[in-house]
Amino acid sequence: MRVISISLACLFLGSVVPAAQVASRSSSSDSYSLYAFGDNIGGFPMYYSDGNAVVGNRTPPNATNVGKVSFTHDSSGPMVGNPTANTTVNGTSKPPFENQQLFVPGPDSSDHQIGFTQNATSNQVTSKFIWYGHFLLVENDGGEYTSLFYAKKTEHDDIFSLQWNITDDDDEGDFISISMRGLPPSNA
Ligand SMILES: *[C@@H]1O[C@H](CO)[C@@H](O)[C@H](O)[C@H]1NC(C)=O
Ligand SMILES: *[C@@H]1O[C@H](CO)[C@@H](O)[C@H](O)[C@H]1NC(C)=O
Ligand SMILES: *[C@@H]1O[C@H](CO)[C@@H](O)[C@H](O)[C@H]1NC(C)=O
Ligand SMILES: *[C@@H]1O[C@H](CO)[C@@H](O)[C@H](O)[C@H]1NC(C)=O
Ligand SMILES: *[C@@H]1O[C@H](CO)[C@@H](O)[C@H](O)[C@H]1NC(C)=O
Repeated sequence: MRVISISLACLFLGSVVPAAQVASRSSSSDSYSLYAFGDNIGGFPMYYSDGNAVVGNRTPPNATNVGKVSFTHDSSGPMVGNPTANTTVNGTSKPPFENQQLFVPGPDSSDHQIGFTQNATSNQVTSKFIWYGHFLLVENDGGEYTSLFYAKKTEHDDIFSLQWNITDDDDEGDFISISMRGLPPSNA
């Protein structure tokens, strides 16, 4: 994981960032969470929801293994997520998930769902995450840094499925272009 500390005036959503603008920072042991920002999405935290990535301002309902995700900084390699809190089942406190790597679907994948894995397939990209300031980007096969994150509407106004690389053909008005950042909203 590479991180830089410059501040950004803006980041064009769904865009490519020149490689020269991305620098690296030494790793730290801090843990952090990810937050989604876009139209009417004011910094919703990321949840693990039965293997899928979800952003919302409350815990996604109807999931069996679900919880807010905390990531650990690593100098390189996958972003490993663990729950911010245990859940209690039948009086026993245990983590709802453990050591789950965040992935985005690969360029040839027909699936757009961002999720978690412990054993990435060739269609799951776990090791191309890059920081641009507080913005999370993904390096594509051409070496460009991209932010192709989308929030897909659900039947709940305040809960969105986290998707990757939606094109016009896929978009039926259910997708909102978002950025993913490593800092909570200032009012949090
Ligand atoms: C959750 O389950 C209830 C009852 O089965 C159902 O009415 C509701 O639509 C479900 N919500 C989601 C988000 O799946
Ligand atoms: C919780 O306890 C009930 C009753 O003993 C049992 O049927 C159920 O399977 C338990 N749930 C889990 C997740 O262990
Ligand atoms: C969470 O669950 C694990 C495994 O059951 C346990 O070792 C740990 O102490 C729990 N943590 C908290 C904060 O309860
Ligand atoms: C996005 O999808 C297009 C095909 O729809 C593909 O050509 C491109 O490589 C994908 N980009 C990323 C970064 O996955
Ligand atoms: C990961 O997946 C490969 C291919 O399916 C399998 O051979 C391997 O045992 C899996 N490893 C783990 C740790 O699950």
